Amino acid sequence: MLHLLLLPLLSILAIASPLESRAPKYNVTAMNAALSRGSGILGSYSKCSGSLCSWMSKIPDDTRLTDMSIPGTHDTASWNYTPLKQIEYLKYTNIIYPSPLYRCGKQSIFQQLQAGNRAFDLRLGVAPNGKDTVFFHSEALLDVNARFEDVLYGFWRFLDENPTETLLISVKDENSTFGSYTTLQQRMYDTLTSAQAQIYVNPAQSITSTTLSAVRGKMVILRRFNSPSAIGVDLTNGFADNNPDFSLTTSGGDKVYIEDLYEPSASIGLTPHVKVKVDATTTHIAAAASKSKGDGLYITYASSEVAAQLLVPQVMADGLVVPGVNVGLKTWLTSGKGKGLKKKGIIFTDFASDTSGLVEAIIA
Ligand SMILES: *[C@@H]1O[C@H](CO)[C@@H](O)[C@H](O)[C@H]1NC(C)=O
Ligand SMILES: *[C@@H]1O[C@H](CO)[C@@H](O)[C@H](O)[C@H]1NC(C)=O
Repeated sequence: MLHLLLLPLLSILAIASPLESRAPKYNVTAMNAALSRGSGILGSYSKCSGSLCSWMSKIPDDTRLTDMSIPGTHDTASWNYTPLKQIEYLKYTNIIYPSPLYRCGKQSIFQQLQAGNRAFDLRLGVAPNGKDTVFFHSEALLDVNARFEDVLYGFWRFLDENPTETLLISVKDENSTFGSYTTLQQRMYDTLTSAQAQIYVNPAQSITSTTLSAVRGKMVILRRFNSPSAIGVDLTNGFADNNPDFSLTTSGGDKVYIEDLYEPSASIGLTPHVKVKVDATTTHIAAAASKSKGDGLYITYASSEVAAQLLVPQVMADGLVVPGVNVGLKTWLTSGKGKGLKKKGIIFTDFASDTSGLVEAIIA
């Protein structure tokens, strides 16, 4: 009798068996806890929907990462740093600059992913409890609950559901006030090499010959901290400060070309500063497209601020009455000299979501 009942069941299992290969690669209990605790930085989870969720599915497998055009968010975790949050955290940070100086976006990480961004700029520090690794932008503690590992789980969830995509994750040791840099760096390394992380993190130290097919469904680490052991693409050796055009060599032997003029200098006012920044940004993207400085990885930060003139990141990016950097960049990409350029490299923006079509123009 039993076998008669079992037979239909078994055939259902047989039909359902392909699903097995799509079982999550993550620990479901840990995932749910991470998405909940991490929501102050990840935002609330919803499955990516829309045409940009899998834009990399249209890129051929053998394309080198360094030959792609990849939009990203600068200071990814700062989007939720509101005046209210700053006041709530005064007990940890004391008086620091006004919150708009630290805030570089307004979309949650899940929204940033849905908008097509695939490069993320994570800056970490020791939490006030001395134990956890949480997110900082300079002096600003961005969220006291969301841990580094929680945010990684959020990215892993996205990768599981969108396995054609790859993520480039820049990881920097930003603030060790509540501990020491040595412990912070060790914990960052441990988090990136945990058993769960190893399923998703590509540990390779070189990027120049990495093809997209090798890292679909995975994350590539751009390492901006001194690690106790090698992991990811090492950007620590000569990362210049506030510089429109510099290069460095990774420990894996790659050349990396970077524009990171985050505080442009110009005569007083928004327009002159925007012009200097747009020039630095577009010049570097043009160099990336033609590899005019040499073969390698090109990273362009379209983000900027001029604190002394109250030109906070949002004002530089969005403009105020007059156009900001993002409109300048989008215009260059869609109807200026940047039109039709491929292989633009990684381009990190602030507040890209305020300029519709900017992310699409970078991917194009
Ligand atoms: C899954 O994660 C939970 C919570 O972190 C943990 O207690 C449990 O041991 C994990 N299970 C496995 C199989 O690793
Ligand atoms: C780290 O944050 C604390 C608290 O806001 C601040 O006092 C300190 O200056 C910050 N350090 C760095 C290097 O930004």
